Amino acid sequence: MAAAGLAEVVVVGSCMTDLVSLTTRLPKAGETIHGHKFFIDFGGKGANQCIQAARLGAKTLMICKVGKDSFGNDYIENFKRNGISTEFVGQTEDAATGAASIIVNSEGANLLLDSEDLKRAANAISKAKVIICQLEIASSISLEALKMAHSNGVKTLFNPAPALAELDPQFYTHSDIFCCNESEAEILTGIPVGNPEDAGKVGLVLLERGCKLVIVTLGPEGCVMISVEEPIPKHIPAGKVTAVDTTGAGDSFVGALAFFMACYPHLSMEEVIRKSNFIASVSVQASGTQSSYPYRKDLPQDLF
Ligand code: RIB
Repeated sequence: MAAAGLAEVVVVGSCMTDLVSLTTRLPKAGETIHGHKFFIDFGGKGANQCIQAARLGAKTLMICKVGKDSFGNDYIENFKRNGISTEFVGQTEDAATGAASIIVNSEGANLLLDSEDLKRAANAISKAKVIICQLEIASSISLEALKMAHSNGVKTLFNPAPALAELDPQFYTHSDIFCCNESEAEILTGIPVGNPEDAGKVGLVLLERGCKLVIVTLGPEGCVMISVEEPIPKHIPAGKVTAVDTTGAGDSFVGALAFFMACYPHLSMEEVIRKSNFIASVSVQASGTQSSYPYRKDLPQDLF
């Protein structure tokens, strides 16, 4: 366990208010269609990952920026209800809290997270066991956070989402774990990913770029892992479940990875991935983003 007051998992990333419309199909440009359900959920890749790690039992801290508005206030309460430290959650009057819908996406205050915010949190970052970063904030800030953590021996878990075709090559060398999904893998490498074999090819390319361990997630097919120590791709399948809503399942997986890496450091990476596959598969069996993420008390106790 971390010393009192210090977080085991630190996440530098985004918060979004997810405006979720359920429709039978996507509208064409300029078309109006009827939705059959609308709800608001807490989302944003960074916050989702932090929430999942916290619900599994990690001591967590979020470094992010929300607006000085009701969505921002609600978000801070959401972090507190989930036991997440909000010491470095900034509120700004210069932008609204980020919001996301299936069709239109706006990052809002997330893009105002800056170097000064990281400097204020330097002690928490350098003493964490695991840091997670993604690309829903300015990529330069994600890279700076990864470097701060890496130079202090903190395990760095990078999720290049949403993917950037021209990713700064330093992301590869500063990521202990580089975890992407099929579409992100294709944007980064140009290799279309339809099966575990393709994912293995992506893994090899990303190892050549300097990653130490690559995980390519494949939705219901689980994922493929490859590392410098064992440069042969390994497919780790997920159990079969009936999916209701897969939104945010990748974030549940990443949050679970960070939890197991921080709190069970002696587990093999393969075991960490198997357990995280299971947790993400629980999340797809309920609708919503964070509202579908399981709590430790509701999971089989032999996971822990
Ligand atoms: O990864 C899922 C998340 O992506 C959603 O919560 C939404 O906010 C978008 O950022």
